[in-house]
Amino acid sequence: LFIVHITPELATVAKVGGLADVVFGLSRELSIRGNHVEIVLPKYASMRYDNVFEMHEVYQDLWVPWYEGAIHCTVFFGYVHGRKCFFIEPHSQDNFFNRPSVYGFRDDILRYAFFSRAAIEFLWKAGKHPDVIHCHDWQTALVPVFLYEMYQSLGMTHPRVCLTIHNFAHQGVTGGELLRATGLNQPERYFAHERLGDQRYPQALNLLKGGIVYSNFITTVSPRYAIETKDQGQGFGLEATLHAHQNKYGGVVNGVDYDAWNPEVDHHIPVQYGLNSIDRKYDNKRALRHRLMLADNEKAMVAFIGRLDPQKGLDLVRHAIFYTLERGAQFVLLGSSPDEGINADFWGLKQMLNDSPDCHLEIGFDEDLSHLIYAGADMMLVPSQFEPCGLTQLISLRYGTIPVVRAVGGLADTVFDKDHSSRPLNERNGYVFNNYDNAGLESALGRAIDCYHDFPEHFRDLIGNAMRSDYSWNRPGQDYLNIYDYIRDG
Ligand code: ADP
Ligand code: GLC
Repeated sequence: LFIVHITPELATVAKVGGLADVVFGLSRELSIRGNHVEIVLPKYASMRYDNVFEMHEVYQDLWVPWYEGAIHCTVFFGYVHGRKCFFIEPHSQDNFFNRPSVYGFRDDILRYAFFSRAAIEFLWKAGKHPDVIHCHDWQTALVPVFLYEMYQSLGMTHPRVCLTIHNFAHQGVTGGELLRATGLNQPERYFAHERLGDQRYPQALNLLKGGIVYSNFITTVSPRYAIETKDQGQGFGLEATLHAHQNKYGGVVNGVDYDAWNPEVDHHIPVQYGLNSIDRKYDNKRALRHRLMLADNEKAMVAFIGRLDPQKGLDLVRHAIFYTLERGAQFVLLGSSPDEGINADFWGLKQMLNDSPDCHLEIGFDEDLSHLIYAGADMMLVPSQFEPCGLTQLISLRYGTIPVVRAVGGLADTVFDKDHSSRPLNERNGYVFNNYDNAGLESALGRAIDCYHDFPEHFRDLIGNAMRSDYSWNRPGQDYLNIYDYIRDG
């Protein structure tokens, strides 16, 4: 098959969250299986250009309709770790992607509406005929809308569209200006509830909703989150839309790129290790302590890595830091937020804990350090309010770092409690709690710390189970191919 991913993010050049890793890992798996895969993304000024190879201009005169006129774009081609990527650069006064970061601007919705339009215009002008276009999140949810409403009548061979929703919390809700900018010029048509009309606010358009209505198939990133969003009130207003389209909606648990995340060959960590050399994991623990100037002792080490977003359960993270120290273990946090207030809170906390030899908070984004933490920590805390899939627990499993998670979304689908699971003993790989409160968190984290200190051989078994579990792209890769086949036949 010829598959084109249209995406706002791609590891390792433009990564904000897990979406970037998903496009990176899935595209490789699809290629290995003999498909032709291309990726289209904006040419951000903030990109890590050192990770793009052989970048060159391939298309100089792409004119993309915008308001009454058109914006001139240049398209570049380059490889990102072997993946074929097209980067779109608009030359507009608004400098859509010539900004210091990927997101966080007042015109984000217009920026991505433009990108979605430009991506299709490029495929059309370049004479590309993908079998399937795979879009991601609200940023590219207008792609199927444009295809159906505008390009079909131009005679473009109609590619099938799969939309993956990585998070329902962000939907791209906006006003009628969008229609003027993009040329979708029948307001009554698009404001209608069965199309883009937002279910919560009159006079608002919802891009993600449009994506759901117009795509041939919609996935989210775990089966549990698919149910939570459709049936359990977690769809941020889109529950009824999901119900109306439930015959084309399902959950596929994300994989992890097992080449990029492999303790046996990982060059970001000082000592490589595997299932048969678990002891060497502790050399990385020592290296991590050394790097963060923590005491080298017999204590367990609990870690948290993630965006400092309320979604991630920040009040429980905060409680966990104090609880961990009180229980005689160490805590390491790596995280950052685009929200200055949240960053300031954690800086305050850092100041307060500065003198502790058992705690380190690193406020920032640091891929390199993240590898060392995955390898060096004993446990990874993921106490999310909601979690569509979550990659941190999956990467942790790969590194034999035991996840301690709340039973929501993808966390519930991938982590099975050592003491209270219906799974066979050799499939249990972590600690799980239900209630979103301090007592809930303590019930799982307390057991994990106790097991580490008091029953090391049991903890060792758990590490083995974790490292044996398979969350590579192998299975989800096949699941997506099945979906592509299904929509091509439909
Ligand atoms: P989300 O997409 O909601 O942020 P995921 O768990 O799916 O959560 O993916 C998060 C990804 O981003 C993981 O690969 C994680 O290691 C990485 N990550 C998050 N915060 C940081 C950080 N501060 N520094 C380095 N990597 C980070
Ligand atoms: C989103 C979700 C996260 C998921 C990631 C990749 O950012 O918050 O749970 O793992 O997308 O699908």
